Amino acid sequence: MHIDIITLFPDLFTNIFSHSILKRSQNKGIVSVEFHDLRAYSTNHYKSVDDYAYGGGAGMVMQIEPIANCIADLKKKREYDEIIYTAPDGEMLTQSISNELSLKNNICILCGHYKGVDERVREHLITREISIGNYVLSGGELAAAVISDSIIRVIPGVLNDETSALTDSFQNNLVSPPVYSRPAIYNGWEVPQVLLSGNQKLIDNWNLEQSFERTKQRRPELL
Ligand code: ADE
Repeated sequence: MHIDIITLFPDLFTNIFSHSILKRSQNKGIVSVEFHDLRAYSTNHYKSVDDYAYGGGAGMVMQIEPIANCIADLKKKREYDEIIYTAPDGEMLTQSISNELSLKNNICILCGHYKGVDERVREHLITREISIGNYVLSGGELAAAVISDSIIRVIPGVLNDETSALTDSFQNNLVSPPVYSRPAIYNGWEVPQVLLSGNQKLIDNWNLEQSFERTKQRRPELL
């Protein structure tokens, strides 16, 4: 999979994509990611990409021209399965959306800023709008990183043990069971006996029961 990210702050991403699973996915050749500085597509001397809103009101609007030029340039190289715009009023990101997007070949993500983009970008250039929650971020970069991470980690072959993505919270609409590691007793606090029993069937049953109970208690809307 290839991901192109269009942003005003490409530097914000370099660190995030240089560690852990995101780094490994690129080193394994399964994923490639490029960041594109929208300012490079500015149509004016000052390299600005925003302007006042028609009709007035507070806040600047990201102009259509630099965005359209950038997307047109990228499209010369690739055909996109989705061109995503990060927006608080987009469809809410879920595990099933990430699973679906993980099967695509080429994805482009446009990071929003200021009061948002000229509506014509949303109408004509974008194929999907995604929100990562009911709150407003200063920009779409963190949302783009969250969306990319949740997609990349479920691409087959990215995680060493493929079952570890399949047993993530939300994969079966249940949250994960609690996990424990050594020591078996710390400060008098014990690991549940069943996990030390060596009986895999009992352990699997216990995990499922715990997942179900936790989901009922913490996230009943998933059931
Ligand atoms: N940009 C600003 N807030 C956002 C959100 N909650 N989700 C996605 N993009 C955003």
